[in-house]
Amino acid sequence: METKWLKETDIKAAAELLRQGEVVSFPTETVYGLGADATNDQAVKKIYEAKGRPADNPLIIHVADLDQIAEYAVEVSEKAETVMQHFWPGPCTIVLKKKGPLAPTVTAGLSTVGIRMPSHPIALELIRACGKPLAAPSANSSGKPSPTAAEHVYRDLNGKISGIIDGGETGVGLESTVLDLSNPDQPAILRPGGISQAELEAVIGPVLFKPGLTEETEAPMAPGMKYTHYSPVEPVLIVAKDGTGWERAIHQCEAAGERVGLLASEEIIHAFKSETTVTFSLGKSGDSVTASKRLFKGLRFFEETEATVILAEAYDREGIGEAYMNRLEKAAADKYI
Ligand code: TXA
Ligand code: MG
Repeated sequence: METKWLKETDIKAAAELLRQGEVVSFPTETVYGLGADATNDQAVKKIYEAKGRPADNPLIIHVADLDQIAEYAVEVSEKAETVMQHFWPGPCTIVLKKKGPLAPTVTAGLSTVGIRMPSHPIALELIRACGKPLAAPSANSSGKPSPTAAEHVYRDLNGKISGIIDGGETGVGLESTVLDLSNPDQPAILRPGGISQAELEAVIGPVLFKPGLTEETEAPMAPGMKYTHYSPVEPVLIVAKDGTGWERAIHQCEAAGERVGLLASEEIIHAFKSETTVTFSLGKSGDSVTASKRLFKGLRFFEETEATVILAEAYDREGIGEAYMNRLEKAAADKYI
């Protein structure tokens, strides 16, 4: 199929495609999403097909109005209200008990649904023009880093989806925080993201931190966390702050015949680049906001280069740094050097 390259001015056309049951990629403030009408099961199935996404990994629904929540979630608790008030529109997904006319495939058989209101103007306008909530995972092929630019979506999904709305580069660069509020007595972060644990705790009190697979008995987790989502072609090694150090890490890799890619701050690149290294800057040292914005772009960048191994910088796990380290550790399969 032909994938239409759409602009901000084509939102009506994009909404029409969505209403007809097609899938269209659109920008959000976190990463690009791959949207379909969340009440149309055939349409939602096309998302899984285009991405090659395992069928047991549920999708987030995106709304543009608070009124829509009552239609799709039961028992919107006081804590859920508070989180919505403080962080919506924005990068926080709330998991609630579901109800209403959602396509069964959206929630992959779970009794809960993840909902968020994105803050990107194009996303909001598109949802409103469509008149339906949009089911939307990140618009990458399964196994690739999430797309932070329309070109990334094109590279992964050209020919497989009906359109892409180009809204430039996304802001946060990492996906939303997934907060499980299906039991309001035990709020839990299932995936760290744009809104930190500290920010959430400031408004609703203690929040558990349970990303990825913990004890198997501790359901429900974000099912998506069991897949290695962010696996670039080249192996990634995280250079630990208290580890070997950059010089020795580079030496060790080069001695093994590797071509080293440095995914690091300007300062580290300045200090350790050489004629043989390939580099991608994550911004100023210690600036985890900029590093988060650039991480996925950087991982994709190295796929186009001769680098055979990526040495990546660790950031402090504060604020968005927690989400940065979570995605980086997934990309590196937890390997440190
Ligand atoms: O920022 C984002 O959240 C982006 C943009 C497009 O909105 N979307 C996104 O979707 O990252 P996706 O599908 O790539 O990741 C959704 C995550 C998965 O880990 C999934 O398992 C989890 O949310 N999830 C969705 N519904 C859930 C539910 N009912 N219970 C637990 N986890 C859920
Ligand atoms: Mg994803």
